[in-house]
Amino acid sequence: MAMAKLVNSFNYILLSLLFLCANNMLHSMAQWPKGGSTRFYDFKVQMLKVNKLCSTRDIVTINQMYPGPVVYAQEDDRIIVKLTNETPYNATIHWHGVRQMLSCWSDGPSYITQCPVQSGQTFTYEFTLVKQKGTLFWHAHFSWLRATVYGALIVYPKTGVSYPFKYPYEEHIVILGEYWQRDLVQLEKNVTASGGGAPVADAYTINGHPGPNYNCSINDVYKINVVPGKTYMLRLIGALLNMESFFTIANHKLTIVEADGEYTKPFTTDRVMLGPGHTLNVLVTANQKIGRYSMAMGPYMSAKNVPFQNITSIAYFQYLGATPNSIALPAPLPIFNDNLAVKTVMDGLRSLDIADVPKEIDTNLFFTIGLNVNKCGSKTPNQNCQGVNGGVMAASMNNNSFIRPNFSILRAYYDHINGDFTEDFPGSPLRFYDFVNGAPNSPPNNTGSMNGTRTKVLEFGSRVQLILQDTGTITTENHPIHLHGYSFYVIGYGSGNYNPQTATFNLVDPPYMNTIGVPVGGWAAIRFVADNPGVWFMHCHLEIHLSWGLAVALIVKNGQGPMETLPHPPSDMPRC
Ligand code: C2O
Repeated sequence: MAMAKLVNSFNYILLSLLFLCANNMLHSMAQWPKGGSTRFYDFKVQMLKVNKLCSTRDIVTINQMYPGPVVYAQEDDRIIVKLTNETPYNATIHWHGVRQMLSCWSDGPSYITQCPVQSGQTFTYEFTLVKQKGTLFWHAHFSWLRATVYGALIVYPKTGVSYPFKYPYEEHIVILGEYWQRDLVQLEKNVTASGGGAPVADAYTINGHPGPNYNCSINDVYKINVVPGKTYMLRLIGALLNMESFFTIANHKLTIVEADGEYTKPFTTDRVMLGPGHTLNVLVTANQKIGRYSMAMGPYMSAKNVPFQNITSIAYFQYLGATPNSIALPAPLPIFNDNLAVKTVMDGLRSLDIADVPKEIDTNLFFTIGLNVNKCGSKTPNQNCQGVNGGVMAASMNNNSFIRPNFSILRAYYDHINGDFTEDFPGSPLRFYDFVNGAPNSPPNNTGSMNGTRTKVLEFGSRVQLILQDTGTITTENHPIHLHGYSFYVIGYGSGNYNPQTATFNLVDPPYMNTIGVPVGGWAAIRFVADNPGVWFMHCHLEIHLSWGLAVALIVKNGQGPMETLPHPPSDMPRC
């Protein structure tokens, strides 16, 4: 089925080539060694009326599809997506996991690399999937719109190159999401204005379907029909908004073969955990009795005292020959705070081959990540200070809550415009203490953060090691930290405070990822070479934490020569 669509998109080549030529004269983009095709997609941001959970709502979508259209490509292909915004909201699209070599302008986060595309406007994203293949995804990157604006980005190996495992009989995309019966842009405004936490999602969804555990959803369920004895590859995508999630299939084993678009050594497990921003390819063999089995997703919540949706979402893994309406065998999910289940999966992730990990380090960084409560400064505390102990909730890196400016940081940096950001983000915390256990847990102790649009500047080519350290301020929590424009080697992680004396690193076959779930009350160590110039957002992929400021922008300077220099901005860059 996937292949059929792939072939279809070759029809666009001619059109796309014409388009590319015209475009190149305008943009003068750096040229990649040719070999890939160019694929053109038309993305219209449009409202769609959907009937879910017993009520009808208008949701924001791409091309009135929920989940959105799948972008298919092959390694080294050029992707051109024309985005036209036909909704009243601002919009942008981020290509999550795409390294955007020399194409930072097309990365997509609002106010970081571009101004949002306003109602009635268009913008064309253009990038090359340089040396990338696997399961990635795209999502909106304005306010909380990505709750419904997301879809898969599937990159096949080059023609003639096979997978490093036996070809599955079929492949299926399985996107884990959250459904909200609310206007998501309004919701973000309301939540941040309240100073308190976010309400819980109305449902979890698998490919947009809540499944039979929810009201009015008996038939709103995703299903995969399987042939007994065959092996299937599921391309799992974590597109959740404010939650992390377990995924399992009743009576079946999952063999992980790829994580975040990079092959891994096969690792077999009963269940996996996906934070928002994670993708995992798993192989499943239909080797059980003929029947209908549940594929289930349920909450992973490592923070204390945070409410969450507790109804699990079910889809069917249904054997050919099973009685059509048979009861599905229930899938045992771990309990919501099973940190060990999460660690077990992480321990199993090893890159397939010997990894090219930087051994020498030029830039050592240490970022704390966690929550804060700021003092109430409002005259109407009942409305605006609904956080812990009557304070205002915040989140931070190195105790800086990131404020998104009203202008594109990349543009301001490129044009040497002052005033939109500063370059003083500290490379390590201003104060070292027992981050996990010694944190002051309630105001009026010092739990506040500083606000600012602080960036960290990196020299081109610097070999970076970054320690991410969870803090216990308010509560410890597993934070899925995502870096735009790069994958990084996850060389180590552990619980408690990072201790260079005792920490052990895997410099041989660590996984190469774009999102790392930093263990609850623990740390993770990552390494990458800063070889892609631009402004790269790094943030917690739990949207509420991003709204609260758990983010930083890394500026990677140009190197020398055209292949180390960010090209000019496209001429159709939106204005703020
Ligand atoms: Cu998938 Cu900045 O995000």
